[in-house]
Amino acid sequence: MAYASGAMRSSIIAVIFLLSLAGTSSAQSLSTSFYSNSCPGVYDAVKSVMESAIAKEKRMGASILRLFFHDCFVQGCDASLLLDDTPSFRGEKTAAPNNGSARGFEVIDAIKTAVEKVCPGVVSCADILAIAARDGVVILGGPNWDVKVGRRDSTTASFNGANNNIPPPTSSLANLNSYFAAQGLSQKDMVALSGAHTIGLARCTNYRAHIYNDTNIDAAFAKKRQSGCPKTSGSGDNNLAPLDLQTPTVFENNYYKDLVSKKGLLHSDQELFNGGATDAQVESYVSSQSAFFAEFVAGMIKMGDISPLTGSHGQVRKNCRRVNN
Ligand code: HEM
Ligand SMILES: *[C@@H]1O[C@H](CO)[C@@H](O)[C@H](O)[C@H]1NC(C)=O
Ligand SMILES: *[C@@H]1O[C@H](CO)[C@@H](O)[C@H](O)[C@H]1NC(C)=O
Repeated sequence: MAYASGAMRSSIIAVIFLLSLAGTSSAQSLSTSFYSNSCPGVYDAVKSVMESAIAKEKRMGASILRLFFHDCFVQGCDASLLLDDTPSFRGEKTAAPNNGSARGFEVIDAIKTAVEKVCPGVVSCADILAIAARDGVVILGGPNWDVKVGRRDSTTASFNGANNNIPPPTSSLANLNSYFAAQGLSQKDMVALSGAHTIGLARCTNYRAHIYNDTNIDAAFAKKRQSGCPKTSGSGDNNLAPLDLQTPTVFENNYYKDLVSKKGLLHSDQELFNGGATDAQVESYVSSQSAFFAEFVAGMIKMGDISPLTGSHGQVRKNCRRVNN
């Protein structure tokens, strides 16, 4: 039979149509219009809390951006990081990359309260974190973009995942690439997303080895940082220094300028400009802030797409710190 009959052709088309429907419902994707009808007020609610939090403390924009990164790298962007420990539940907050360092949870609580007032039970904590991270970047002078939403919240967290998936500041370039590749992110994404370090602070314990022991660091800069970070581990561990030397509360391309002048604060930062494969990308961001902004936004959207819970998976938590009863 050379050609299917009309009837057979339409049943083949119907089968293909049903298969394609099945395909979309098992792997729903995020979209920028997910709350267009169910909660159009979510954006103003998040923005106004972020504006007052940042007016109170500029660093908060950085802290919330980092929460989003640390959430997404552990079982996807599912708000697993926001769950509190209980006697019977070990979450991610005390894992090494987060303990004593992840901050801003009370701002997320305040946003959740504001959003619940506008549309109760509709917006996930995972989406709130994604929107708040974007708003922090914008408020501090960075690029704007439409955030894809439709994530739901996990009922689980992973202490080991937080310890194993989030790159430590001692990482080499090769290690940084493998942590990001494990999340489906490229070297290009990694270098662009690291530009988040144009805002925020780090603790002495995380940069001590770099300022005392590394050679790819400007000598005067190392000395300056040593004055605020004692050599002996255990003393001054929590002393803070800006990740971007001059302007840690402004989101621009100065982080990459720091790297080119060997003034990266973390060992991992300076790895991006150390005679290797990523030097050219760093230099391109020094000469074009708009290239950095465009590639940072692309990286944020890609990071926000990591393993979301959608459809009927997970839940919309009432309180971001605990799963619903
Ligand atoms: C490339 C691998 C990365 C490493 C090794 C790394 C490591 C670190 C470390 C050690 C700190 C300081 C934490 C402390 O001392 O308390 C930090 C801070 C920060 N990180 Fe990263 N990070 C990386 C990528 C990222 C990404 C992809 C983002 C977001 C897109 C990000 C956003 C931030 C922000 C905004 C801060 C400052 C937070 C604050 O001031 O509260 N980092 N990072
Ligand atoms: C987290 O930090 C606190 C305070 O420094 C410490 O007592 C605790 O042992 C740490 N938790 C873990 C799991 O390392
Ligand atoms: C520097 O390296 C030496 C030799 O490996 C080590 O003993 C020392 O603890 C390091 N110092 C810092 C501040 O990391």
